[in-house]
Amino acid sequence: MKNIKTQVGIIGAGPAGLTLALMLQKEGISSIIIENRSREYVENRIRAGLLEHNTVEVFDKLGVSERLHREGLVHHGCYIAYNGVTQRIDFQKHTQREVTIYGQQEVVKDLIKVCFDRKIEIVFEADATEINDFMTEKPSISFTHSGENNTLNCDFVAGTDGFHGIGRKTLPKESYNEFKIEYPFSWLGILAYSKPSYDELIYAFHHEGFALASMRSEKVCRLYLQVPNDEKIENWSDEKVWAELENRLGIALNKGEIFEKSITPMRSFMIDNMQAGRLFLAGDAAHIVPPTGAKGLNLAVADVRNLAKGITDFYKNNNEELLDNYSKKCVARVWRVQDFSNFMTYLCHKQAESGSFEQLLQKSKFDYLRISEAYQKTIAENYVGLPFEAFE
Ligand code: APR
Ligand code: PHB
Repeated sequence: MKNIKTQVGIIGAGPAGLTLALMLQKEGISSIIIENRSREYVENRIRAGLLEHNTVEVFDKLGVSERLHREGLVHHGCYIAYNGVTQRIDFQKHTQREVTIYGQQEVVKDLIKVCFDRKIEIVFEADATEINDFMTEKPSISFTHSGENNTLNCDFVAGTDGFHGIGRKTLPKESYNEFKIEYPFSWLGILAYSKPSYDELIYAFHHEGFALASMRSEKVCRLYLQVPNDEKIENWSDEKVWAELENRLGIALNKGEIFEKSITPMRSFMIDNMQAGRLFLAGDAAHIVPPTGAKGLNLAVADVRNLAKGITDFYKNNNEELLDNYSKKCVARVWRVQDFSNFMTYLCHKQAESGSFEQLLQKSKFDYLRISEAYQKTIAENYVGLPFEAFE
């Protein structure tokens, strides 16, 4: 049994926990991260790959963006297509901002490396089992590691432990309302060694279902197809995937070797309170957005930015106001991002039979998109990410 001590005990070494630890260290505040998976597992978990302008700025300030700028692809727009008719959304014109395409697991690798270089302790393969005494000034985290039971004593606990973690389960049930939508479709995603035959991302509505053409680099494509929730991956040979992508996207694709293929369900989920006493949730622990728009990581970074500010003000100025308002401030942005992710999902996915009232309303949105600069701007400013200051 080991008893260790730090100022902020962080559960989870995903983008939220790692970014928080680096932000705190910059302010001279110590933390230890407890992560139940191995370093290799965490570094290879495949997720989305689109960074808002805001997120890149945060990584710049932390000094963790050197490889991101070297290898990431800066995009100044994207395409939204309806049965082959394409409209470009010009981020530069509407927002003077851009996004960067850079795989999330690359972000995680960079953050972990910098944490090690800067001597931030990450305990891998350590399972946090309980968060104790969080309504007092002396909370602690019980965790098991190498068959031993341990305690991490701290002043604050950050529950950055993802959707299935113990952070949200520990938050008193009566302190929040829960909201969720489970969508009646999933995404079949592939990664392939092939040069993208498109210069920017394409979000395509098609009467057979949605398709998304994304990329990871000049040599690796990331593509997705809408499939039913009960779809079996065995039904999708590589040939069938390529044929359906070309059909729905309406373009010829360079068909390299597919080295990853999986199906992911889609949900919107959130709670409207993210704190109790000295326990603060951030990232996927408090909210999940459907992947259309790739907001998950960006929202997690916005949360921990607020949390780091609050904790810093507590130690430096003995002021708890920012911490008291932490949840309120985060939740305002979460609602905005939930709305945008839900909007993009409903806009682009096939949900109703061709010719039905719902489907014709959906088509009308695409017609409007082609004639209205205002509508394009609304999409652009949400897509690149509203400035942090908008919610301050
Ligand atoms: N003890 C220790 N670690 C835990 C525990 C536990 N009991 N439960 C969960 N974890 C770890 C998980 O193994 C995972 O590595 O917490 C981490 C949470 O990381 P993410 O799921 O990546 O969540 P978050 O950091 O909020 O991610 C924000 O990035 O990874 C994406 O989909 C995610 O888009 C979202 C964004
Ligand atoms: C991705 O590249 O994985 C990606 C990009 C944009 C999205 C979703 C996923 O909207």
